[in-house]
Amino acid sequence: NEHNWDVLIKHDRVHQKLYTDPTIFAEEMTKIFGMTWVYLAHESEVPNVNDYKTGYLGSRPIIVVRDRNDEFRVLFNRCTHRGATVCRNDRGSAKVFTCPYHGWNFKNNGELAGVPWPKAYGDDFDTSEWGLKQARVESYRGFIFGTLNLNAPSLVDYLGPARELLDQWLDRYDGKKLVVGNAHRMIYKGNWKLTYDNAADGYHVSFSHRSLFETAGRMGEDKDMSYFAESPDYGPMVVQYLGNGHTFIDQRPNYKNIGDFWKQQRPQPGREVYEEMIRERYQEEADALLDQAIGAQMNLNIFPNLCLIGNQIQVIQPYAVDKTELTWYSTTVDGLPEEINMLRMRTQEDFPAFGEPDDMTNFEECHLGLTIPEVEWVHTGRGLGIPDRQTVDERGVISGPVTDELHIRNYYQEWKRLMGQPSLKTLCENVKGGVSSV
Ligand code: FES
Ligand code: FE
Repeated sequence: NEHNWDVLIKHDRVHQKLYTDPTIFAEEMTKIFGMTWVYLAHESEVPNVNDYKTGYLGSRPIIVVRDRNDEFRVLFNRCTHRGATVCRNDRGSAKVFTCPYHGWNFKNNGELAGVPWPKAYGDDFDTSEWGLKQARVESYRGFIFGTLNLNAPSLVDYLGPARELLDQWLDRYDGKKLVVGNAHRMIYKGNWKLTYDNAADGYHVSFSHRSLFETAGRMGEDKDMSYFAESPDYGPMVVQYLGNGHTFIDQRPNYKNIGDFWKQQRPQPGREVYEEMIRERYQEEADALLDQAIGAQMNLNIFPNLCLIGNQIQVIQPYAVDKTELTWYSTTVDGLPEEINMLRMRTQEDFPAFGEPDDMTNFEECHLGLTIPEVEWVHTGRGLGIPDRQTVDERGVISGPVTDELHIRNYYQEWKRLMGQPSLKTLCENVKGGVSSV
């Protein structure tokens, strides 16, 4: 290809083009978003047979459906007749999708069921040839992913060490089911990787989100701010590179235990009123229940588009080199008392309502800056060249102080590997929808 990635990606910097060049973006939509496992939906969004949700696999419009046989499928939402969007709803339930243009209708397993006035098609018209194209689909503990890559490893292998962290994120609920609820959607004028870079960026927090913490302080929230007052470089929080592009911030070491964190985070009067009520009602169970209300102290980012932050699920959807949608899904837990779920929802107010505009403003400002040719480089070298600053464990997981940019440097190595691969075209031609669920 025309780009030499070794010139554009160096050990301590990446070229601005990676954020602003539309031809690179187009290539990413095939080689990154086509070759990896991309998060598409949560099983609780399609709870019953025939339920579906529409969305995108990179730039490809798709329908995630629990088909008539209770198997997940990822169908291309493009009519095989002349290309119209077949399903134009966000969510729903359907045994058959009928294209609004000329009425070709498809079973929810993708097969072409029929066409209006079929006699006009000659004898050699073979409906089995004209089903909706499908992506490979796999699901792990409720999280449904798709890929166009027939040679992709299993989803579990792809998750690697991120799987254990996802397990920890879910195991907080003792087997109770996570339910994905309503979403905040927001679009910014900037490249999708600005969000992915930021998703494990512990460097910006005390600057970008200062007003959020000050507001929390004014509301009486007794947050332990010592982390922000002293240099976070030497605090207990870590940033990690997990392999396959996945990154992680572990905030848990910053808090002695979850119950203790709850006390720190308690604002007055809002959450305190709830806490008193819960202690009175649930007595010795109260601590465990309160623990299930607060956010997991982690940011887990599954490359390229899924970020688990606190109790929330954030999904990155690229639309153009300079246009990205972020969707924040709130979550509740089936079977928890209503007031505990209400408290969970309170933990999901700060982000995206107060915090995300800080970040999105930065993304737009960065993107504007990077469109100026003379800016040339994005610096990614924080933490380099300092002895003993990073460690690598036996799984290959790299850890460092939370403000380091090791997550950016390392996921770009994976990005480079993927972008250096041959075109996906031949791979996706045979994709028919391998269906499996863990
Ligand atoms: Fe769908 Fe014609 S484009 S039926
Ligand atoms: Fe932020």
